[in-house]
Amino acid sequence: MCGIVGYVGTKEVTPILLDGLTRLEYRGYDSAGIAISAGDELVVRKTKGRLAVLKDLVQGDTGVSGNVGIGHTRWATHGEPNDVNSHPQESRSGKFVVVHNGVIDNYLELKNKLLRHGYEFISETDTEVIAHLIEYYYKGDILDTLIRVQNKLEGSYALGVLCADAPDQITVIRKDSPLIIGECPHGKIMASDIPAMLKYTRDFYELGEKETAVLTKDSITFYDINKEELQKDTFHVDWDIDAAEKGGFEHFMMKEITEQPRAVTDTISPHIRDGKVFFEDLPLGFDKFYITACGSAYHAGIIGKNIIQQLARISVETELASEFRYANPIITENTLVIIVSQSGETADSLAALRYAKDKGAATLAIVNVVGSSIAKEADYVIFTNAGPEIAVATTKAYSCQLAVFYLLAIHLGTERGTIDAEHAARLLDELKEIPAKIEKILGDKEQVQFLASRHYAAKDVFFIGRGLDYAAGLEASLKLKEISYIHSEAYAAGELKHGTIALIEKDSLVVAIATSEKLFDKLMSNVMVVKARGAQVLGLTWEGNGIESTCDFALYIPKTEDVFTPSLSIIPLQLFSYYVASMRGLDIDKPRNLAKSVTIE
Ligand code: F6R
Repeated sequence: MCGIVGYVGTKEVTPILLDGLTRLEYRGYDSAGIAISAGDELVVRKTKGRLAVLKDLVQGDTGVSGNVGIGHTRWATHGEPNDVNSHPQESRSGKFVVVHNGVIDNYLELKNKLLRHGYEFISETDTEVIAHLIEYYYKGDILDTLIRVQNKLEGSYALGVLCADAPDQITVIRKDSPLIIGECPHGKIMASDIPAMLKYTRDFYELGEKETAVLTKDSITFYDINKEELQKDTFHVDWDIDAAEKGGFEHFMMKEITEQPRAVTDTISPHIRDGKVFFEDLPLGFDKFYITACGSAYHAGIIGKNIIQQLARISVETELASEFRYANPIITENTLVIIVSQSGETADSLAALRYAKDKGAATLAIVNVVGSSIAKEADYVIFTNAGPEIAVATTKAYSCQLAVFYLLAIHLGTERGTIDAEHAARLLDELKEIPAKIEKILGDKEQVQFLASRHYAAKDVFFIGRGLDYAAGLEASLKLKEISYIHSEAYAAGELKHGTIALIEKDSLVVAIATSEKLFDKLMSNVMVVKARGAQVLGLTWEGNGIESTCDFALYIPKTEDVFTPSLSIIPLQLFSYYVASMRGLDIDKPRNLAKSVTIE
């Protein structure tokens, strides 16, 4: 996730761009840049680092003066944060300059085509491909060219484009990434998000899917994919700037929960080609995996172990990163150690990575932050494209980690022949449906809110499940305790009777995660046992599997293949934790004693 902004009008553009980018920094902050239309020349200034570095760079720079410009604040996806990979990206001749928010899935294919036509690339970004592609197709009309380029791009994008031949306009197009346009008294403004523009206007247009707009000082013209002109109405926003940064939500956590469908799509789609999972350069010949991580990332790893073992029949062990180097793990040259981390900076995970490399293992990092220490030091990296996660309690990064494990398991299973092509295709089809199913759960928050209102005063909550349901319970339990401060434990349901059942008393809340058809009956026997001790049971199962007769309360998720249930069951449980914490009046985004990135061992 990145932030883009653009302005065309009568005012000096640089302060407007920098101000807008300041408001978008929550969307990415590893580098920033601006481009200004200065006569027949496009002037670019960009740098690695936070926006403050860019502000210092352009301070007193007379070259960046004009009334038309675009800007970008980056959250790296393709290529580490450095000056060259920063946006704006320029075409070969410098005639076109592009800022981009999104992920181009087919950029390698397009890059190879352009390489064959003699184009050279100086950055590792997918955006440079767009800049060159515009130049490649340009025949004198930037609007026609962008509509043509749009047809070549797969993935998500919101693009702001400057063309030296049309110095008084900005052209914008978008698909699957947001782009809003505002009309202010002195010109037109566009951005990825409303906060960047609130200082100038409160009336906005939303650019629709695959639509294009041309912004000049006096006009905004909208076009559809066939270059037919479109009429649009504005919408009005009353939010203050703080609320606007959170997309109108009260907390970043809720904003990030609702971003999960997009984040999962952006994570899986770059690795799906021609109906198959694809990983560039990932070697296969390992006979043993370790998965090591901390907290929620470790919980994702437990699910990863289960599905890789199921689908690819490789032996996988999980180990907490803080324990890894003390556990004397058995590592050979055929061992792959997978390190999972949102931040890529967690001290224990980094130490585990270094230990594994030291012992001769190959290492694969599943990381959200490009350019982070873990991403740089691992032999192989798969990025979760969740975008910046601001709430301390992870939600969307965790969901993306699961998505990567699904891709990996399907890929390994196919390559090792442990699942046949038909099974792999069925799984992949279902994986592609997961974002829509998450969306469906998010569309029905009221029931979760109601259940939270019944239980927010609970003293203890137990999550029980079997197999993947148990693993999902570990994450649900962590979510609840870290933001609501309610004591909570997750238990493999069959293990309760070996001790923990002593804690169950009248009205203890037990959340029974029962999404596996195979294990459903067994789990219901465990439910009967806790009910007999007076527990109140909240059952979570698939739609159509009425459990009101067994459980006191029920939550439902859409039906999916058993292996994918953790991606769905966690969503209502994230919401449950959120609403419970909210009803307890707690600081949801910054829970006590916790930090977003844990850089001490
Ligand atoms: C819980 C949470 C933590 C992190 C853990 C690892 O909501 O966010 O448990 O998962 O601190 O952090 P990363 O993934 O950055 O290595």
